[in-house]
Amino acid sequence: MERKWWKEGVAYQIYVRSFKDSNGDGIGDLRGIIEKLDYIKSLGVDMIYLNPINKSPNEDNGYDISDFEDIMVEFGDLNDFAELLKGIHQRNMRLIMDMVINHSSDEHPWFIEAKKSKENKYRDYYIWSKGKGNNPPNNWGSFFGGSAWELDENTGEYYLHIFSKKQPDLNWTNKELRMDMKNMLKYWAGKGVDGFRMDAINHLAKDMNFPDGEVKEGALYGDFIPYVQNLPEVHDYLKELKRDVFTDSHVVIGETGGINYENAHVYTGVNNKELDFTFHFDLHSVGKGENPWERVDIDLIKDLKEKMTGWATRDEQEGWCPVFYSNHDTTRTVSRLGDDKKYHKLSAKMLATLQLTHKGTPFIYYGDEIGMTNADDFKLEDYRDTSIFTRYCECVLSGMVSHENYIKGLNLTSRDNSRTPMQWSDRENAGFTNATPWINANSNYQEINVEQQEKEYDSILNFYKKLIALRNKELTLVYGDFKEVDKENTSIYAYLRILGNKKVLVICNFFGKDAQLKLSEDILLSDFKLEVCNYEDNEDNSLIENERIINLRPYESKVYISEI
Ligand code: GLC
Ligand code: CA
Repeated sequence: MERKWWKEGVAYQIYVRSFKDSNGDGIGDLRGIIEKLDYIKSLGVDMIYLNPINKSPNEDNGYDISDFEDIMVEFGDLNDFAELLKGIHQRNMRLIMDMVINHSSDEHPWFIEAKKSKENKYRDYYIWSKGKGNNPPNNWGSFFGGSAWELDENTGEYYLHIFSKKQPDLNWTNKELRMDMKNMLKYWAGKGVDGFRMDAINHLAKDMNFPDGEVKEGALYGDFIPYVQNLPEVHDYLKELKRDVFTDSHVVIGETGGINYENAHVYTGVNNKELDFTFHFDLHSVGKGENPWERVDIDLIKDLKEKMTGWATRDEQEGWCPVFYSNHDTTRTVSRLGDDKKYHKLSAKMLATLQLTHKGTPFIYYGDEIGMTNADDFKLEDYRDTSIFTRYCECVLSGMVSHENYIKGLNLTSRDNSRTPMQWSDRENAGFTNATPWINANSNYQEINVEQQEKEYDSILNFYKKLIALRNKELTLVYGDFKEVDKENTSIYAYLRILGNKKVLVICNFFGKDAQLKLSEDILLSDFKLEVCNYEDNEDNSLIENERIINLRPYESKVYISEI
């Protein structure tokens, strides 16, 4: 296995808008992160991944860029960026930036030009088509609700937007556009950025014949996925970027919907030279019922074990993978996969155990290290995500769903759940800002916050630090082979990590009731020493029956290490 910094380190993802406001405007910013660099370093992480920080009118919080080479006004300027990068490097950490190159903002000068006339130099930087009579070119519905086409009255043609209408898709068949994009990426690489997370990257190519999509039962629009996702030309574009822009010292990560452990190698295979690894969507909707306002129990084997083991046991040649539960597009980890009420602390620690001992680079989403939860008491007016309002029109105003169920659904599944301000302390607005925050803090910030957990010796925060330190010193947790134990167990996820003579045994009970693990013949517990347990008493031997069966308490997790 080839050694790489981005395989060995632990990453920390920051949704800049919600991390720390340094200048009292209610919006997180780069200087806020600078203030908190020592905190981040104290976790033991090696890399920071920032959600987009480029200039943007913020229709989709920075995923709609109006200047690819400048910083979002609310976040600061290029001098702040330089200081931040320097501060990160001085602390021996690295920076991964989010690059949104599938689309721009409709306020980008290119799009403003493109709309002026069909002959404009920038017209072909975007994707245009004539309508069918008074209707859009086809029936594609966008990811954020409504049609994927918007009429430009001035020129009488429609432009494609697979996300919001303020995010027109760029035309990657255009060579000049590709050249501009490569120069832009080189500009950031030239500043010393260490890695890139390429947003929605497997959408760069589209079927330019624009065939109608299949209209699935209950849907208003046709399914456009087969025509805008994972098309063969995407590979050409990625190879071109890898060849012309990135070097071996960069890490290049792609966000790739519709890709799983069985086919990710088409992007990450070590001979493809496209991406180092991909962010998948495997765990995003675990626990989601058929209706978004209903929660169903986790099927541990199908929802989690099969998928996570699938990623961890791929052939080396197929590429690397991340280990993450949450990001800015999901709900909070402990609310979705644990029990954020009765077993808040234990289940958050159990999930941390799994994340930091599994195979792949752990990406800790800001706030997960203190067990931040869903904001499940938000009302419609508390939400900020642009997609919520388009969908509200599509679902509630059309009578498909009641207002109450829609809100219940948001409480359970909205991505705003994981965009609330970082909970630094029990002071007003969770210590995030002294102004009105752009989105409300979760109402539980007085109980769940950094200041409190730094003091409390068995807090979730201190548990994370302990596990990160363990991972940093134990190469078995990075490169060790992955072998599941008691695979059929429906309550416990257990596995061995093996490197040379060294073995690590990890056991995680995923539910709020006692459970038993059966060890296979080749595992002798007396060969191992208990290294980490999420129960304070660190109780061990009393729970073992005949060395073959381990009894676990609700949400209990254990990490054993052997030398044999
Ligand atoms: C990605 C981002 C998401 C954004 C979308 C459009 O999926 O993660 O937050 O809304 O792309 O750029
Ligand atoms: Ca600010």
